[in-house]
Amino acid sequence: MKFSFALAAAALPLAAADTLVNVLTGAGENTLLALVASVPAILTVLESFNGTLFAPTDAALAATVAAGFNASDLTAATNVLEYHAAPGTPFSGVGFTGSAFLTTLQGNPVEAVAVSSGIQIHSAFGIPAANVVKSLPYDGGYIHIIDQTLIPPANIVDVATAANLTSFLSALTTAGLASTVAGLSNVTILAPTNTAFAAIASVAATLTVDQLKTILLTHVISGIVYSTDIIAAKSLPNVATLSTATLDIEFNGTNVLISAAENKSPATVIAADVLADNIVVHVIDTVLLPDLSAPTTAVYSAPSNVYSSAASMFVGAGVTAAASFFF
Ligand SMILES: *[C@@H]1O[C@H](CO)[C@@H](O)[C@H](O)[C@H]1NC(C)=O
Ligand SMILES: *[C@@H]1O[C@H](CO)[C@@H](O)[C@H](O)[C@H]1NC(C)=O
Ligand SMILES: *[C@@H]1O[C@H](CO)[C@@H](O)[C@H](O)[C@H]1NC(C)=O
Ligand SMILES: *[C@@H]1O[C@H](CO)[C@@H](O)[C@H](O)[C@H]1NC(C)=O
Ligand SMILES: *[C@@H]1O[C@H](CO)[C@@H](O)[C@H](O)[C@H]1NC(C)=O
Repeated sequence: MKFSFALAAAALPLAAADTLVNVLTGAGENTLLALVASVPAILTVLESFNGTLFAPTDAALAATVAAGFNASDLTAATNVLEYHAAPGTPFSGVGFTGSAFLTTLQGNPVEAVAVSSGIQIHSAFGIPAANVVKSLPYDGGYIHIIDQTLIPPANIVDVATAANLTSFLSALTTAGLASTVAGLSNVTILAPTNTAFAAIASVAATLTVDQLKTILLTHVISGIVYSTDIIAAKSLPNVATLSTATLDIEFNGTNVLISAAENKSPATVIAADVLADNIVVHVIDTVLLPDLSAPTTAVYSAPSNVYSSAASMFVGAGVTAAASFFF
């Protein structure tokens, strides 16, 4: 009976009217099915789920288990499974170009990216992109079989560390903002590279803690702003930050550029859309410098303008002092 059932399933094309569980069963990726069955709350959700389910192959899940994922840990299993289900308008992938972010039941998004070989799904920083190997309709949307398990983003500190943004992290600690930033969610962080901080080392050495705080908070935008939002808008003037300073953001056709009041030329985004837990990070090549003499109303006091005394720093005079500030 088992044999003839298998033959029949193979001979009949799957109809879109099939349920998610039936289509997944027909796809024959049994590890995911077993994992779903082991978390009853998830199975219940998926039984009436409308949207997009990303389904890792048996091989992909086996590799994730080998890498240390404990499928018996209910919290870990729930977190990973929820990250594979994006509710709402189903993503078919048909005719898809560019990239798009899909919010998952876990709360964080995955990014679908059209590449020459098809569609890839990006998850946490450092996790290889998953390739969609097969797309199957079900009665509430689409199941996309993928060759890599999607891993939810880690917290901002771990992501910044993994992305080598160590000067940024040191500066946050110096400014007394480390725990503030670790507790942020629903923000966009523009994180300068270590090289960017090295380029302002001599001016950094002259800053008060309050001034440094203002500068760093100018790198945090309230709300999630993906590069796709910036590219679609082309220009986002006067974007509010967590300091009182605003930023002008622009897509020039090639790059996303960010301008603050005192920078001679805009910062360029060199790595866009790095996902952290409830945060998106864009890595930039220049530290953003707000006008520190501008009146402030926020909790951060108005520091005097120190840039005029070190103006040569911002016209390319080069680094003259190796401040220990960030290292
Ligand atoms: C999914 O869509 C069907 C058909 O529109 C609807 O009956 C069902 O309630 C939806 N399920 C959820 C969880 O929204
Ligand atoms: C996996 O999780 C289960 C349930 O929480 C736990 O009992 C077990 O010790 C864990 N295994 C490992 C290797 O951590
Ligand atoms: C990390 O930054 C340091 C200092 O700028 C640099 O020497 C190193 O090559 C970087 N590592 C990576 C993996 O980018
Ligand atoms: C995220 O922040 C934006 C901008 O401040 C706000 O409009 C939105 O409601 C926030 N979303 C959540 C889920 O808090
Ligand atoms: C956009 O900005 C980048 C970085 O400054 C620059 O290299 C590039 O030439 C600019 N592209 C256009 C079309 O202006």
